[in-house]
This record gives sequence, C-alpha cells and structure tokens, in this order.
Amino acid sequence: MSTAGQRLPEGPYDAVWASPGRVNLIGEHTDYNDGYVLPFALPHSTVVGGRRLDRPSWTVWSEQTGETVTFDGTQKVEGWAAYVAGVVWALREAGHDVPGAALAITSDVPSGAGLSSSAAIECAVLAVLLDLGGFDVPMAVRPRLAQRAENEYVGAPTGIMDQSASTLCRAGHALFLDCRSLATEQVPFDLAAQGLAILVVDSRAPHAHVTGEYAARRRDCEEAAKILDVPALRDVEPDGLQAALARLDDEVMRKRVRHVVTEDQRVLDTVAALRSGDARAVGPLMTASHSSMREDYEITVPEVDTAVSAALRAGAYGARMTGGGFGGCVLALVDAERCAAVEAAVREAFAEAGFTPPDAFVVTPAEGTHKIDYAG
Ligand code: GLA
Repeated sequence: MSTAGQRLPEGPYDAVWASPGRVNLIGEHTDYNDGYVLPFALPHSTVVGGRRLDRPSWTVWSEQTGETVTFDGTQKVEGWAAYVAGVVWALREAGHDVPGAALAITSDVPSGAGLSSSAAIECAVLAVLLDLGGFDVPMAVRPRLAQRAENEYVGAPTGIMDQSASTLCRAGHALFLDCRSLATEQVPFDLAAQGLAILVVDSRAPHAHVTGEYAARRRDCEEAAKILDVPALRDVEPDGLQAALARLDDEVMRKRVRHVVTEDQRVLDTVAALRSGDARAVGPLMTASHSSMREDYEITVPEVDTAVSAALRAGAYGARMTGGGFGGCVLALVDAERCAAVEAAVREAFAEAGFTPPDAFVVTPAEGTHKIDYAG
C-alpha cells in the first residue's frame, strides 16, 4: 500500500479501496482519437474509506483540503468534491441504486502534475460505492463509468486513458489499451531486470489554459476526421498519412493529424520492442514522441522541453513529456545507476534557466485499483 493508506482516519469502514495515479509511457492524445496508449500505474495512490449510510446522502472528507462536503444528489457539486459527486451521478445514470455513504479520502498522488490524481479519486470512490452497494460491476467496464463522471459531470472532455490506467494496470506491467475496442494487453515492463529505470521529473510548470487547449486539440482532430471521412484519426494508416495531409488545407490541422497518426505507430513499435525484451529500443520512440508533441501538437512548455534535453544530454536513452501537456511531468528512460546523475543534470538546467526547482522520483509499475484490508 502507498503511504496514503496509512493516513486514513480511524474507521470503522465497510470498504477501503486504493486507485493509483499513472504515467503514460507513450501514446499521447491518441485516446480520444480511438487510438492506442501504454500507461502504467504509479506507486502513488488515492485511498478511499467508506461507511454505508441508511439514507441517500454522501459526506466526503479530504485529507488534502481538510474540508468535508455533503451532498444528496439534487445539487451540482463544484471543486474537488465534484469528482466524487460525479461518480455518484454516473452510477445512478447507469441505473444503480447507490447507497449513501460517509467517505474519507487521502492521497499521495501529486495533484496538478499531470499524474491523473482526479482519475485516481474517481476510480477509488467508484470501487468503494460499488462495494458498499454489493454491485457486481466488472473492472473492465468501470473506466467508462468514471470517464462519464469526468466528461459529463465535471465537464472535462478527456479520453478514457487515465481511468483505464488507474483501474486496470497491473504491477510490473504497462497497459496496452486499444481505445476503440477497449481490448487490453498487460505488457511485462520489468526495467530493473535490464538494469534500467524510469525517472519521473515533475517540471512544476504552472498549468495555464489546460482545459481550453485540450478541448481545442480534440476539436481539431474530430474536424480533421470529418474532412478525411474516417470515423476517427486512428483510421488514417501511416502509409496513407501523406495522402491524408494533402487533403487538409489548414496547416495547424495537418500538424495535429501528423502527431496522432505517428504517435499511434510509436505505441505499436514500443509494444513490439517490449515484447521482444528490448526496453532500450523504447528510448528513441519516447524522444520522437516528445518532438512530435512539441512541433506538431504544440503542447509542451519550456520547462518540459528543458527537462527532456537535459536528460538526453546526461545519457538518458529517451525522454518525453507524459500526460495532457502544458506542464506536468517528463519521463526519462535511464540506466538505473545513472538516475542520480540525470536528475542532477535536469536540476542544473532548471537552475540555469531560472525555473522553479523540479521534483524527481524513480517509479516502477504498480498495481491498479485494489481492495485494502483495513484494520481500524
Ligand atoms: C489527459 C486526459 C487523457 C489523455 C491525455 C493525453 O491525461 O485525461 O484522456 O487524453 O491527457 O494523452
């Protein structure tokens, strides 16, 4: 269990569940284009303890804010508690008679860092409410429910990657997800066995206009798919890319399409490299993904570009921003014994550029949503 679980207030609880944050190894902004993604779960998680109430009312306490919010489903909840109220709403919309509950939430997933702290809340709350209600909802269909809470209740037009990662990832594996069919494959991702590690650098760049820019990218992609007369950009094959680009008048749209189509292929190439046991080969694919996000999707900021260049100069096999963009975290694939040197190089580059010092930590793929046997 992550340290978050140890901070849950004394119970009693009828159910306690944990859901992790995630990093995406590769496959950015492909999920809402019906494409491929390859995230893995962080050891950092959100833990939710729930006690059943005998009335349709929900009380939620958050360790992070110190606040308690109560709602009965008739009013629109705003702020952090919207992620909880959104899950109650989505479950009711799906026809479940959700039991009232007193919930306590703690988390050690850094928030605002692009590590899916909101999906972690949604997925853990969902697991607790399903458990309290005795509903038998398979893990495979839970991401859609949590995504509905995010899209329709909270109002963020995200794809299905984060909720899928938080729910379905397995320790020691990356989750290869086809965002159209929702078929999954757990791809073994044991870097330590090859003397490698993933270093996560949190750029701590302030997120600005994230939701608006995200929505704009999504609209451009959907518009391009319409012009190209395909259901989604996933349907543009790499060898049909030049012909597709020639049919688009708008230069910005051409760039967006080129990112999505090449990024889908990079996910497939990454999965092939991992299946063949050659994790080092993933490095150049990560770096190409970053260039594509910088040049074509235009979602990077100077802090993440600086982190990527510094990591590469210090000997990383590859590096890229992970998540929605405009700040957040960078992943670097490094020799395990080079972690400290790469981190130092990034810190130095940040200091030279006058940026806020970054955070950095090494991650190994952890377990998705799981029940916690809570004594207390
Ligand atoms: C955010 C969204 C995801 C995905 C990524 C970009 O994390 O929540 O659905 O689109 O951005 O890959």
